Amino acid sequence: MASRRGSSTVLLPGGQTMATFTKHSEDDEGLPHATKKTMADHLRKFEALFNMTPQRMRMIVEAFKESLELGLTKNGQIVPMIPTYVFGWPTGQETGMYLAVDLGGTNLRVCLVTLEGGGKFEITQAKYRLSEEQKQDDGQKLFDFCGECLKAFIDTNLESGLIPKDQVLPLGFTFSYPCSQERIDHGVLIRWTKGFGAPNTEGHDVVEMFRKALAKNSVPAEVVALTCDTTGTLIASHYVNPKTRIACIFGTGCNAAYMERVRDIPKIAHLGIDPDTEMAINCEWGAFDSFEHENLPRTKYDQIIDETSNKPGEQAFEKLISGRYLGEILRLIICELIDEGVLFLGQNTYKIEIPYSLDTAFLSLMESDPTDELLMIIGIFNHFFALETTLAERQFFRALAKLVARRAARLSACGIAAIVSKMGYLEEGCAVGADGSLYNKYPKFAERIHEGLHDIFGEKGKNIVTYHAEDGSGIGSAIVAAMTKERKNANIYPNY
Ligand code: GLC
Repeated sequence: MASRRGSSTVLLPGGQTMATFTKHSEDDEGLPHATKKTMADHLRKFEALFNMTPQRMRMIVEAFKESLELGLTKNGQIVPMIPTYVFGWPTGQETGMYLAVDLGGTNLRVCLVTLEGGGKFEITQAKYRLSEEQKQDDGQKLFDFCGECLKAFIDTNLESGLIPKDQVLPLGFTFSYPCSQERIDHGVLIRWTKGFGAPNTEGHDVVEMFRKALAKNSVPAEVVALTCDTTGTLIASHYVNPKTRIACIFGTGCNAAYMERVRDIPKIAHLGIDPDTEMAINCEWGAFDSFEHENLPRTKYDQIIDETSNKPGEQAFEKLISGRYLGEILRLIICELIDEGVLFLGQNTYKIEIPYSLDTAFLSLMESDPTDELLMIIGIFNHFFALETTLAERQFFRALAKLVARRAARLSACGIAAIVSKMGYLEEGCAVGADGSLYNKYPKFAERIHEGLHDIFGEKGKNIVTYHAEDGSGIGSAIVAAMTKERKNANIYPNY
């Protein structure tokens, strides 16, 4: 049977397929490979697809700004712009011992944070990897797991004397998925993102589910605040760098938070909160342009990712940017070129045909390969996919990785620019605390965001500077818990 992959396969009686490749004796060069010229031609096509001109970026910024404003005006909008009930900035003098539980996209983290005031703190933590099954299993089970891990963590630290006996510690719960909040210790999950799909959770109050898990495990902790990683990052970054105005996460997911004046959040006008007060907004900007797909430059690869995801149509912006998807974009391009007979002719390609088998970390490695021969890329293809590559192909893969990651960074710049422009931060400038694996580990990601901001705003774009943020989900969550306790003790909006 002739394979669509160029090599031939034979169907064995057991149902398996056996790949065969016939090599002629005069075929000195081993496996057939695409030539340098073919690769260069293909690259030009992809450059055109993934490039974003400054003009296109400015159009996206305008549409983005409108979306942000709409989200502040009415409930149920595409970009939900969630009021967090985190009132204003920390003073930096918050003190005390707090627990923080962070249910992220990849790990569960439990922390003991001691805030010492003056922007100082100490943290002890433990991490637990979440399995794919846990992400899809019943929601209450996921929260029960959080409760069990927290219990184990507290017991260990009670023994070591780090946690004092007979105390119920205040706890900040970082739950980084869109939740609509009526008060700070409440949040109804609007929808799962980042590939989670645990049933019986969307539409439920996740704080209540988490409290149930704490009670089941007799955990001596009191949930004071629910925060998103971005809100936590905003607060933690400001705690150590008061110039911070915006916080972003570029990791498995992608999102931002900033501080808004209550008078500019019309959808909560009925709550009677002083219009001059400030409140952090969790934008959930990953949802920008979802469903309608009118503004973002989606290629057919992005569309495939969307359509085959567990949430088609949703998180359109995030699917072009976050670490969960970048590797997959590159993999889909490679598979298309295999189908067209351009790449890996005569080689068995089943490994790279497995969805999500090309991790974004590989792109990061490809871009940072310092050798002329691109030895790292040889290693990746050889070791993980059992594929031989030529130098021309490796250079092509590296160039593709750059195109995909550069587009992600430039789109990120559009999101930041929309907030900057909406809030009027361009003239005075501002610091943007950023965190997440993509921002921290992907070569030149920050540089490319800055380049994007320069393309959008011209010279003044240099006034907006991103920097590696403080740990929002641990420290930030603890500070939010501290701020909330203080606020409630002072009887300021005690019902929120
Ligand atoms: C997803 C989540 C959001 C989170 C982001 C980064 O976009 O919906 O809440 O902040 O990922 O982790």
